[in-house]
Amino acid sequence: MKFFHGFLLLLITAYDILELVQAQNQSEFISLACGLVPEHATYTEKSTNIIYTSDANYIDTGLVGRIRDEYKVLQQQTWTLRSFPEGTRNCYNFNLIAKRKYLISGSFLYGNYDGRNKIPIFDLHIGPNKWTSVILDAVGNASVYEVIHALTQDRLQVCLVKTGETTPFISSLELRPLDNETYVTESGSLITVSRFFFAPTPPMIRYDEDIHDRGWNPYLLDEQMVSISTDILVDTEDNFYDVPQLVAMTAAVPRNASQPLTLYLSLDETTAEAYIYMHFAEIQKLGANENREFSITFNDDQVGYAKFRPPNFTITTLFTPEAISSLDGNFKLTFAMTGNSTHPPLINAVEIYRVLELPEPETDQDEVSAMVNIKRSYELEKKVSWQGDPCAPKAFRWEGLNCNYPKYEPQGIISLNLTENKLTGSITPEFAKLTQLVELDLSKNDLSGDIPAFFADMKSLKLILSFLICRNLSGNPNLNSTIPNSLQKRLTSNSLTLILSETPLKESKKVPVSAIAAPVAGMFALVVVLAIFFVIRKKKSYSTAAPGPPSVTTGTVQSETRSSNPTIITKDLRVTYPEVLKMTNNFQRVLGKGGFGTVYHGNLDDAQVAVKMLSHSSAQGYKEFNAEVELLSRVHHRHLVRLVGYCDDGDNLALIYEYMANGDLKEHMSGKRGGNVLTWENRMQIAVEAAQGLEYLHNGCQPPMVHRDVKTTNILLNERYGAKLADFGLSRSFPIDGAYHVSTAVAGTPGYLDPEYHRTNSLSEKSDVYSFGIVLLEIITNQPVIDKTRERTHINEWAVLMLTKGDIRNLIDPKLMGDYDTTGAWKIVELALACVNPSSNRRPTMAHVVIELNECVALENARRQGSEEMSARSSVNFSLSSASEFIPGAR
Ligand SMILES: *[C@@H]1O[C@H](CO)[C@@H](O)[C@H](O)[C@H]1NC(C)=O
Ligand SMILES: *[C@@H]1O[C@H](CO)[C@@H](O)[C@H](O)[C@H]1NC(C)=O
Ligand SMILES: *[C@@H]1O[C@H](CO)[C@@H](O)[C@H](O)[C@H]1NC(C)=O
Ligand SMILES: *[C@@H]1O[C@H](CO)[C@@H](O)[C@H](O)[C@H]1NC(C)=O
Ligand SMILES: *[C@@H]1O[C@H](CO)[C@@H](O)[C@H](O)[C@H]1NC(C)=O
Ligand SMILES: *[C@@H]1O[C@H](CO)[C@@H](O)[C@H](O)[C@H]1NC(C)=O
Ligand SMILES: *[C@@H]1O[C@H](CO)[C@@H](O)[C@H](O)[C@H]1NC(C)=O
Ligand SMILES: *[C@@H]1O[C@H](CO)[C@@H](O)[C@H](O)[C@H]1NC(C)=O
Ligand SMILES: *[C@@H]1O[C@H](CO)[C@@H](O)[C@H](O)[C@H]1NC(C)=O
Repeated sequence: MKFFHGFLLLLITAYDILELVQAQNQSEFISLACGLVPEHATYTEKSTNIIYTSDANYIDTGLVGRIRDEYKVLQQQTWTLRSFPEGTRNCYNFNLIAKRKYLISGSFLYGNYDGRNKIPIFDLHIGPNKWTSVILDAVGNASVYEVIHALTQDRLQVCLVKTGETTPFISSLELRPLDNETYVTESGSLITVSRFFFAPTPPMIRYDEDIHDRGWNPYLLDEQMVSISTDILVDTEDNFYDVPQLVAMTAAVPRNASQPLTLYLSLDETTAEAYIYMHFAEIQKLGANENREFSITFNDDQVGYAKFRPPNFTITTLFTPEAISSLDGNFKLTFAMTGNSTHPPLINAVEIYRVLELPEPETDQDEVSAMVNIKRSYELEKKVSWQGDPCAPKAFRWEGLNCNYPKYEPQGIISLNLTENKLTGSITPEFAKLTQLVELDLSKNDLSGDIPAFFADMKSLKLILSFLICRNLSGNPNLNSTIPNSLQKRLTSNSLTLILSETPLKESKKVPVSAIAAPVAGMFALVVVLAIFFVIRKKKSYSTAAPGPPSVTTGTVQSETRSSNPTIITKDLRVTYPEVLKMTNNFQRVLGKGGFGTVYHGNLDDAQVAVKMLSHSSAQGYKEFNAEVELLSRVHHRHLVRLVGYCDDGDNLALIYEYMANGDLKEHMSGKRGGNVLTWENRMQIAVEAAQGLEYLHNGCQPPMVHRDVKTTNILLNERYGAKLADFGLSRSFPIDGAYHVSTAVAGTPGYLDPEYHRTNSLSEKSDVYSFGIVLLEIITNQPVIDKTRERTHINEWAVLMLTKGDIRNLIDPKLMGDYDTTGAWKIVELALACVNPSSNRRPTMAHVVIELNECVALENARRQGSEEMSARSSVNFSLSSASEFIPGAR
C-alpha cells in the first residue's frame, strides 16, 4: 500500500522552560577569523559587535594568508584566511557536546591572496559527509555557506577538501548553538536557503537582534503585498525559535484584503527536499467581534492548515515536520482568509532550508578519540592524510589503517600499521581503546618501555606484527622483553600472535643480537609460522566471510526509504502475520487490553513498538480498518501516537504503534505505577501537549477528525514524559466525502461522553472538547470521573460543588501539597469548566484551549523560576527533584 504524504504543518506554541536559561550573549559562540595572527589574537568587529579569535587552536595544518588591500572592503574577518596547499582533506576540530545543534557558517573571500588571480574551487565537508562545493563568483566577492547541524558526537570536524588543482582556503568559520528542539528533521541537516521577514526596507537583521545570529533578510515585497508593523512588543519568549523582536513586530498582509497572500520560495536545487518554518503573530488589535483566520496551502493543492488564527501579539511557529519537495524546486505558499474571518491573512517571517543528507556514518566516537590521542602522543599531527574522520569516507581513510564498515553500526578500526613512523616513547594505552583492532604493526620505530599487558585484554587482536622489542640504548641496555603473564597465556593458546623484530631503526642503536635472540629464537620461529597462517586466513575472511547484519525483512518499516519521485514518499508499513509473531516474540508480553483486542509489546528494527491485535469479535469492518490505516499513516504530529505499521494477513488484523514507555496518564494519576507524584508543572505540560495533538486533529487535518474517545487512558507518555494522544480515528467515524458516518450506537467512554452528543447523536469536534475538559478536571483534582460514593457522582458536578464552597484548594489534588500557581490553577479550572459546558456552542475550540494552557504553563514556569531564585535551598525538595526527571530535555 502506498501512502501519500501531504503537506502537514505542526503548530508550536509550547512554552519551553529551557528558554529561561537561554544565553543572551555570545559566550557560547565560536567566531574564527581564519589566518588571524598571532594565535591568541582577538578583536571585535565593529558592525556586528561579534568578537573574533584566531583559528590556530582548532587546526594543525594550513598556511595563513592575507587578501590584497584593494579587496578589504567587507568585514574584517574576510581580510585574512588560511589556505591548504598540502593534503587532500584538512579539518578544523571542535570539542563540543553530542546532540547539541549548531548553526555553522563558513565564509570565503579569495581577494587574490596568493597573487595568482585565479579563483579556486573546492569542497566543504562536515565530518565524513560533503556539505557543499564552494563557488566564488568574483575575486573580491564573498560566499557564505550556512548549515544547521546536530552533533552525533562530542566533536565536530569541518573540512576543506581539494577537488582539483586549486588550493582550498577559508576566511571565517562561525558556530552558534541552537536549541536542539528547534529545526528538527527526520534525517540529515539543514542548509539555509533563505530566511525572510517583511520589513519594507533593508537592512538585514543579525546578532544581537537575533540571539542566535541568524541573518534575516527583508523579503522583496511584490505589488500584492504590504508591510505592517506595530510598536507593541510581541511575546517571543513562549516560542523556542527565538524570533527576533524586530522580525516579530512586522508582517506582510495582502494589499487587497479580499485577495490571498502568496509567497514564492525556491530551492537552489530542483531535486532537493525542504523544510519550511513560518512565524506568525497577530500584530493588530482586533475588536471583540473581529478575527483573523486563514488557511495555508502549498503549491495550490495541498492544505497544510485549514483554519489558523495567529495568537494576539505572541509568536507562533508552524513548520513542516517532514521534508517536502516539489518537482521544480519552487514552493508556493498561499494564505487565504476563511469565510468567517474579518481580517486578511498575515505572516511575520518565513525560513526555508534544504535537506543535507548525511549518508556516511562517523567512526565510533571512542575510537576516534583514541586515534586523536595516538596522533598527539606520537606527534603525528602533520601526517598529511591523518585529518578528519579516520575511516570515513573510504576515499579519505587515514593512511596505515583499515576499518570494518558494518551496515548498521558506526565503523571501527581493525588494523593499524604504524611501521617506520619514528614513534618514540612507550606504547600508549590508547591502543587498548581500539577495541575492534585485529592487527597492529609497530615495527621499525624507536619505542621503549615494557610490552604492555593490556594487549592480552584486546579480544579482537590477533596479531601484533614485527613488534620491536623495547630498548633504551642511551642509558643501560635495559631492554625489557618480559612478556606479561596474561599475554603469555594468549600466546600459548594461539589466540594472539606476537612477532618481535630484531631490526632496530638506526644502525647506531643496534643491540647485541644475542641479548634477545638466544632465549627466544625457538619460540619465534613457531610464531612466525602462525603469523603467516593468520595473515592468510584474515585476508580471506575479509573478502568472503565478512557477515553483514541480516538483511531487513521486506515490508517492515524503513524510515530511511525515500522514493525517487520527490513529492511522494512511499512507506510500506505493511507487515505479515509471521512478522508480527516474530516482532512480539509470539505475543509474549501483554501491555494492555482494550475493547478491540489485546496490545502486545514488540520490537521492530531495534525500536520498541506496541502491537494492537484486533480481536475477531471486534465490530470493526475490514473496510473501516483499511480506511483507518490509510488515514492514520498520513497523520503525523509530535503529540499524536504514530502508526508505524499494520498487519492485514487473512483473519489477522493488527495495528503497530510507536511504543510509549511510560504508559498512560491514568496510571500515573492513580499512582498505579508507583513513582513520584506528577508535579503541577508536569501536569500542565502533559495537558498542553495532549491539547496540541487534539487541536491538530481538528484544525490541521484535512478532512478534520473527531477523536471521539479522549480520556486519560488514551494519553500516553513516552520515556521523557512527553504526552501523545492515542487511539485516534480507530473505530471512529469521521467525515469522508463530507458526510458524517453516525454509528448506530453512540461510542465513547462513560463519564467522558458529551451529553449533547449522547442526546442528539450529532457529532462535532466540540464533543472532544467536552471530553478534554473532563481530562483537565482529572489532571487538576486527581479524582475518579465517576464515583458513586462521592457527594456528587460525576467529576464535573463535584468540581462545581467544591468551587461553590469558595476555595480552589478544595478542588486541587492534595498530593500536590499546595505546590502550584493559584492564578494558573483558577485559569485552568475555568477553562476545564468551559470545556464541559453542556451546550457545545459555548465550549471553546481546541485552538483556544491550547493558547490558554500555554499561558498556564508560562505562569507556572515563571513561578518556579521566581522561587528558585529566591531560595536555592528550598528548591531541593521532593517535587522539584522529581520534576527534573520529568522535564523533557532538562539539562
Ligand atoms: C553570558 O551568558 C552565560 C550563560 O548564559 C553566563 O554564564 C555569562 O556570565 C554571560 N556573560 C556575560 C558577559 O554576560
Ligand atoms: C539536546 O541536547 C542535550 C545536551 O545539550 C541532550 O542531552 C539532549 O538529549 C538533546 N535532545 C535531543 C532531542 O536531541
Ligand atoms: C560581486 O558582488 C557584487 C555585489 O554584491 C555584485 O554586484 C556582482 O555582480 C558580483 N560579481 C559577480 C561576478 O558576480
Ligand atoms: C479586491 O479584490 C476583489 C476580489 O477579487 C475585487 O473585486 C476588487 O476589485 C479588488 N479591489 C481592488 C481595490 O483592487
Ligand atoms: C485576540 O483578541 C481578540 C479581541 O480581544 C479576541 O476576540 C480573540 O479571541 C483573541 N485571539 C486569540 C487567538 O487569543
Ligand atoms: C462560521 O461560523 C459559524 C458560527 O460560528 C459556523 O457555524 C460556521 O461553520 C463557520 N463557517 C466556516 C466556514 O468556518
Ligand atoms: C605495514 O606497512 C608496511 C609498509 O607499508 C608493510 O610492509 C607491512 O607489511 C604492513 N604491515 C602489515 C601487518 O600489513
Ligand atoms: C633510558 O634509560 C635511562 C636510565 O634508566 C633514562 O634516564 C632515560 O630516560 C631512558 N630513555 C628513554 C627514551 O626511555
Ligand atoms: C620488565 O617488565 C616486567 C613486567 O612488566 C616487570 O615486572 C619487570 O620489573 C621489568 N623489568 C625491568 C628490568 O624493568
